[in-house]
Amino acid sequence: MPITIAVGTQWGDEGKGRVVDLLSDAADLVARFNGGDNAGHTVTVGQTTFKLHLVPSGIIHPQTVCLMGNGMVINPLSFLSEIEALTAAGVEVSPVRLFVSQAAHLITPAHRLLDQAQEAARGAGRLGTTGRGIGPAYVDKTARSGLRAGDILDQAGLLAKVNAHVEQVDCLIRQLYHGEALDVADISAAFVKKATRMAPYIADVGAIARKSLAAGKRLLAEGAQGALLDLDLGTYPFVTSSCTTATGLFGGLGIGIQPVQRVVGITKAFQTRVGDGPFPSELSGEMAVRLRGTGANPWDEYGTTTGRPRRVGWLDGVLLRYVVEISGISELAVTKLDVLSGMATLKICTAYTLDGRAVGGEFAVARLGKYQPVYEELPGWGEDVSRARRMQDLPAAARGYLHRLEEIAGVPVSLVSVGPEREQVIRAS
Ligand code: IMP
Repeated sequence: MPITIAVGTQWGDEGKGRVVDLLSDAADLVARFNGGDNAGHTVTVGQTTFKLHLVPSGIIHPQTVCLMGNGMVINPLSFLSEIEALTAAGVEVSPVRLFVSQAAHLITPAHRLLDQAQEAARGAGRLGTTGRGIGPAYVDKTARSGLRAGDILDQAGLLAKVNAHVEQVDCLIRQLYHGEALDVADISAAFVKKATRMAPYIADVGAIARKSLAAGKRLLAEGAQGALLDLDLGTYPFVTSSCTTATGLFGGLGIGIQPVQRVVGITKAFQTRVGDGPFPSELSGEMAVRLRGTGANPWDEYGTTTGRPRRVGWLDGVLLRYVVEISGISELAVTKLDVLSGMATLKICTAYTLDGRAVGGEFAVARLGKYQPVYEELPGWGEDVSRARRMQDLPAAARGYLHRLEEIAGVPVSLVSVGPEREQVIRAS
């Protein structure tokens, strides 16, 4: 069973890049299977902080082969600039260790403009998208009119296809959203010129994954976003447009359903959300500033992709339990425990009420916006935990907090991060 899946259990930004970086030590292949450059995975190694949006975080480990699956939507321009940045930072990236599925869909500048026009038109009902064209690219995919990475290999037909797509978006932007006309020929030609540079990376990624698994290679799958942003099972419509739970791996990489060794649910020690949508345990005022940080550090709660301040709140145990069920989580990796140091008491949301009455078995994520949180209070701890490397190095109250999370989630905590550096981690034995 050489498969480990690492997925977010909240609304994204759980610190997946960091955990995937640690798990990559024991992987031959690291794959992404959903989303696009809306993701932002931060990894700090020594003095260097890598901010990855598309390429799997495992790329930082020289022994890994990295796969970008058919479930992804890929903006070739972001892809190429990410490769440039990685190369400049001394990471070896080449078409012998990084492969893009020919069936992954492409995001063009027209998709991004359409995303932004749609958000503007939603007004107060906006979703708070990253503006990266994710939704429109998945719409084209579902409508069976999308552009795929494999189209880049068809040099003769590519320009005409891109042109037809940009023309269609231009028509939508002008007629439906009353925006300015696009320079169709210019946008298309510039896109095609750059996108063709992605050609050497395009391959039958599903076949590579299947062959490697058959040969006993160890695959680490890196989910993007978090389970609560799942298109079907998340807080619809305030979700992203892909499958963000662990189950998305199989269809999003092109491998059959097979036994999985571990499903690691990455959970921040508190709750955050960027973008709009319900958030029952949200905090405001001084406490929110305390959890969010000021933005002075790369690990403060500001979006990696958009720089937006994240909404913050107490950990929501009801949602965590739900996500453990829908994603088949076998263990938790808890991140940012160090941020909770210095708080006299901590709260965890363990139940909801609706119109003053307890919400029990009728819990439905679709009604989340109507629920009021019920909190359980736990003692905090004053000690700095950033130097803890074993569970027993943590203060009793911190261990108690983690233990309560395990009880609520029904699965063990196998990893805890206590700071942004690679070594600031506790592995439960
Ligand atoms: P989209 O994926 O850009 O369409 O955005 C839809 C929703 O998902 C918005 O609320 C975004 O803020 C959120 N979102 C998308 N990607 C991420 C991510 O990687 N981390 C956190 N939130 C995300």
